[in-house]
Amino acid sequence: MKHLIDPTDLSVQEIAEIIALAEDIIANREQYSEVCRGKKLATLFYEPSTRTRLSFTSAMMELGGNVIGFADARSSSVSKGETVQDTVRVINCFADIIAMRHKVEGAPLAATEVSRTPIINAGDGSHSHPTQTMTDLLTIKRELGTLNNLTIGFVGDLKYGRTVHSLIKAMTRYQNTKFVLISPPELALPDYIKRDVCDRYGVEYREANDIESVIGDIDILYMTRVQQERFTDLAEYERVKDCFILDANKMQGAKQRMAVLHPLPRVNEIAIDVDSDPRAAYFRQVENGKFVRMALILKLLEWQNDPERKFAQADGRAIAGCKCPNPVCISNLEPVRPRFEESQFEPGVVRCVYCESKAE
Ligand code: CP
Repeated sequence: MKHLIDPTDLSVQEIAEIIALAEDIIANREQYSEVCRGKKLATLFYEPSTRTRLSFTSAMMELGGNVIGFADARSSSVSKGETVQDTVRVINCFADIIAMRHKVEGAPLAATEVSRTPIINAGDGSHSHPTQTMTDLLTIKRELGTLNNLTIGFVGDLKYGRTVHSLIKAMTRYQNTKFVLISPPELALPDYIKRDVCDRYGVEYREANDIESVIGDIDILYMTRVQQERFTDLAEYERVKDCFILDANKMQGAKQRMAVLHPLPRVNEIAIDVDSDPRAAYFRQVENGKFVRMALILKLLEWQNDPERKFAQADGRAIAGCKCPNPVCISNLEPVRPRFEESQFEPGVVRCVYCESKAE
């Protein structure tokens, strides 16, 4: 079974196939209007969403398929204590493919352990958001014509920002990628991404204290919201929430050929005077999300029937004495099998496979 839990579950070749299919769908939409006739997508959203859930829904409808699911876990039997894995066993009886968003990290991966249909991670806590990454890659390709030789500036919440984590993982596999990381120290990129992702692939990254001094070097400026819902200390959120704001004045220092992306929703981090700048690509990015999800649904349904296709999926095993310290990891909240693996780039470090936290 092919699932999409982490952007690296897809090879660079598979990503290229999905992007090419999305571009063909954009050019020939009517040809795809019946290709999922009789198929059902289940959208299991345990956490709020506008773009991801509705673009999945819209994508399946444009393919001629149907959609079932819930947008609020309180309206499902989850509110009675049903586990993620039991819910998925049930939904397997009704749907051909499942898109799941969950505030608990690793929940979609736990779902793959029991599922008879493909699982798509539509965002798990602060961990990963691979379909946003597919959206971002299609947008970068359409805006700049290439995924190689790009300097990407990430701004805002790099600690809890799952879209940032996933896009960094994906972009390390393209040629001559460079990252500029702009965040308050409290919201810096987690160490595991720097070591096990950037260092592993030899990708150059540097940290900066402001947008103005680096914007002229940047091809993709990836703005993110400081996410109030991830903070336990509201005072800390108030202190950092407006640290970095992009406005039309700062855009004057940017290259003529560059693009501003944002997974949205935005709060204050992009002033509305940027919206009319042709380099502001964030609303085009939303529409690309629908097309890339159409392509992803088609490919996952096709690949699950291909006996020749080999799938690289997260592994891991119980290791005596290892425990995940992350209170919002599925391994601490539901009865799933422990899965740990040794870090290849940090000697002696063992990580939880569900959430990638360093094990205790
Ligand atoms: N980009 C994104 O994930 O948006 P939603 O939270 O609205 O789905």
